[in-house]
Amino acid sequence: MIPGFPELELDEIRASLSAGDLLSFVFPLETPQKYFRPYATRLSEDEKQRIHRFKHSKDAQAYSMGRIFIRSILEGFLGERPLKIALTEHGKPYCPLPHSPRFNLSHGGGWLLVSFSQSTWVGVDLEDLRREVRAKALANRYFSPAEQAMFTRGGDAGSFMNIWTRKEARLKASGEGLTVPISERCTLTESGWQYEAVKADRYVQGVVAYPGDKRIHRVFRRSVSDFSS
Ligand SMILES: CC(C)(COP(=O)(O)OP(=O)(O)OC[C@H]1O[C@@H](n2cnc3c(N)ncnc32)[C@H](O)[C@@H]1OP(=O)(O)O)[C@@H](O)C(=O)NCCC(=O)NCCS
Repeated sequence: MIPGFPELELDEIRASLSAGDLLSFVFPLETPQKYFRPYATRLSEDEKQRIHRFKHSKDAQAYSMGRIFIRSILEGFLGERPLKIALTEHGKPYCPLPHSPRFNLSHGGGWLLVSFSQSTWVGVDLEDLRREVRAKALANRYFSPAEQAMFTRGGDAGSFMNIWTRKEARLKASGEGLTVPISERCTLTESGWQYEAVKADRYVQGVVAYPGDKRIHRVFRRSVSDFSS
């Protein structure tokens, strides 16, 4: 079963990934824990230790839900358990098995976004538009000159977030994350990259970035109200 998406069949997900589709799942941190608890024993010792190191329980919960979700899809796809999840030198999680789907995740604004693809690298970012940002100062510091020009045309916090979310998703797809000097990297004018918007709710919006040709992008979304009845 896929935690939080009990109506989805693993066979369908497996077929869709094998066909080359990009799959994104967006669900609230408030998804009842009954969907995740049964899988907690599948977490690795490293993951369990990391959960204990978080200072805030919400952060521990987001991490744990993310890892359980990723494991449930990968284990369902690969038919292998327990599954090794490793980290690249810049901290991007991946499964070292040769046929494993690639994946990436982001949490923010009370939501998780997790994307999978068997055929391409993928990076995601989720941002809460209610977060107060000093858009101009951050754009000057972190955007390349071309991105700053794009920002100046919009000039508001919405335009900043739009550029920032795509840039971060792109840098997460390649695994660089924010470890590279990002103002020197104009990611948004690079050719050969696709960006897909994913909306969690009115305020929390995400982007999935991946290289190569455009693919079928299937988004599976849950909201808090789905669990309230
Ligand atoms: C990854 C990074 C962009 C995340 O930014 P953020 O806005 O704080 O958080 P998000 O919720 O969007 O993403 C966090 C997730 O991205 C993933 N992630 C971590 N590093 C990543 C990387 N280099 N590339 C892609 N994804 C990465 C993880 O799955 C992480 O979630 P988890 O810790 O619950 O598993 C940023 O923290 C970063 O670049 N960190 C650098 C990591 C680092 O310095 N590593 C040193 C060597 S280990």
